Amino acid sequence: MVRLLYIDCCIRRELSRTRILAEAVLAALQAKGAYQVERLCLMDEPLMPLSEGFFDQRESLLAEHDYLHPRFRYAHQFSQADRVIVAAPFWDLSFPALLRLYIENISVEGITFGVDERGPHGLCRAERLLFLTTRGGDYRHSRLEMGARYLEALCEFWGIPRFDVVAADGLDLGREEVKTILDRAIEEALTSVEDF
Ligand SMILES: Cc1cc2nc3c(=O)[nH]c(=O)nc-3n(C[C@H](O)[C@H](O)[C@H](O)COP(=O)(O)O)c2cc1C
Repeated sequence: MVRLLYIDCCIRRELSRTRILAEAVLAALQAKGAYQVERLCLMDEPLMPLSEGFFDQRESLLAEHDYLHPRFRYAHQFSQADRVIVAAPFWDLSFPALLRLYIENISVEGITFGVDERGPHGLCRAERLLFLTTRGGDYRHSRLEMGARYLEALCEFWGIPRFDVVAADGLDLGREEVKTILDRAIEEALTSVEDF
């Protein structure tokens, strides 16, 4: 079985259009029967920023190479996944801070990446990461879009060779029906995961 980690950062939960896109993709993948899906809903997790004692604790644990501490469970789970799907809406030209908080917690030297005399190298097992997002405006060809571009760079950092993004753009512009845009994105995403 392929271990698929689904990271849900759809803050509006049941109201989220991003989640509709993600659930369509997950349903298609689950129907194949080849994936063991682990769902991680970030809104339900006690994620903390690296600050004060929480930061100091991490420095001490890493100095002792104590990678088995429970606080590193997110990093281990991420680094052991064969495939990753991240779903998050477009917020403030990027994605919600909650996803950034998760990234901060999983970027652990010795678990998701390593550093040697040549510089950093990724330690993650996943072959692919698919990012699913929806945007109020149309940022398909905009240099202002920072969410997908940042995640793509992180994939390179973590050693994940293939990054794909499927975005439903212009949901709040009123130019097209929301359903029309979402259906198109779902179709694109389903094509993208045919060989996932
Ligand atoms: C806090 C917040 C910030 C947002 N920032 C942007 C933005 O910078 N650009 C944009 O085009 N839309 C922005 N939007 C609109 C969302 O991208 C859009 O409504 C998206 O479809 C929301 O996804 P959801 O339905 O999954 O929650 C923002 C929405 C919220 C609530």
